[in-house]
Amino acid sequence: MTEADLEVHHSAESAAGALRADVREGLTATQKWLPAKWFYDARGSELFEAITALPEYYPTRAEREILRREAGEIARLTSAHTLVELGSGSSEKTRLLLDALTAHGTLESFVPLDVSASALAEATTAIAADYPKLDVRGVVGDFTQHLDLLPGEQPRVVAFLGGTLGNFLPAERAKFLSSVREVLAPGEWLLLGTDLVKDPATLERAYDDAAGVTADFNRNVLRVINAQLGADFDPDAFAHESFWDTEAEWIEMRLRAREAVTVRVPGADLEVPFAAGEYIRTEISAKFRRAGVEAELAAAGFDLDHWWTDGEERFGLSLARSIG
Ligand code: SAH
Ligand code: AVI
Repeated sequence: MTEADLEVHHSAESAAGALRADVREGLTATQKWLPAKWFYDARGSELFEAITALPEYYPTRAEREILRREAGEIARLTSAHTLVELGSGSSEKTRLLLDALTAHGTLESFVPLDVSASALAEATTAIAADYPKLDVRGVVGDFTQHLDLLPGEQPRVVAFLGGTLGNFLPAERAKFLSSVREVLAPGEWLLLGTDLVKDPATLERAYDDAAGVTADFNRNVLRVINAQLGADFDPDAFAHESFWDTEAEWIEMRLRAREAVTVRVPGADLEVPFAAGEYIRTEISAKFRRAGVEAELAAAGFDLDHWWTDGEERFGLSLARSIG
């Protein structure tokens, strides 16, 4: 197999420093919380891939259905020379875009960016082997910080798939979309996947599957803190929950302490007391409506060019153009 080059903008040392700061902030807050990006060490990335195959977790299948149907049209509309993918993970669905853009004859390079070095290394190696004419340049980085470093010939399409935009809080979302807009020239493209608002039972089940894979994924953040900061979390002492917030229109994943416990986190110089029943908010996963997506894109300087959904209208894919 061909080895693809990885550029590293997020070393293990800088990641440990950022985790330390996030743990100090999030676990000393009145409502304890942790940023979702810390799920994704090698095991977390594998657990996420397992989630995408679960019967309850429809977003990956719904987005793949749209991409299968529309990839040719996306290639025709954009004639992209570079495909950048943020939070690329395994890039499995992205192969539909790579196939369409290579068939269209314009694509020269693929630039996947992810914080998970293991997922990125595996994906870039496999894609470089399967698309030998493509310049594959993986970037280990944080998409909230390292966008200015993205290489590639214009016109570029920046793909942000899977509904990962929903893992930001609304203010972070606006900031992120603006930062993507800032690195694009007028006329370049954003391809954005967003999960849509639907009945609460379907949503809560998608984040609390019968086989317990999502629970294991959720608890992985505690294992990451144990490994990186020498903490003594007992993951089994925390119950996994998925909660639909009707007002905010997002799913919250939580880890609730079954009993009162004090957790030591020497790497963050911290002792964290939990009352029985107290929880950490470990992720939000916001769900969207078309009008909201269009308004948020416009506020960041994007014009919505196309909007597609799957046949059951569970998931939306937007193709937006950056305006000057
Ligand atoms: N796009 C893929 C994977 C989604 S999972 C899909 O649609 O299936 C979310 C991905 O984003 C993971 O691979 C995770 O490692 C990555 N990620 C999460 N926070 C990140 C951040 N701040 N910067 C870069 N990558 C991030
Ligand atoms: C990556 N992200 C869009 C997933 C989501 O659905 O919010 C992460 C996830 N969390 C639990 N299951 C999947």
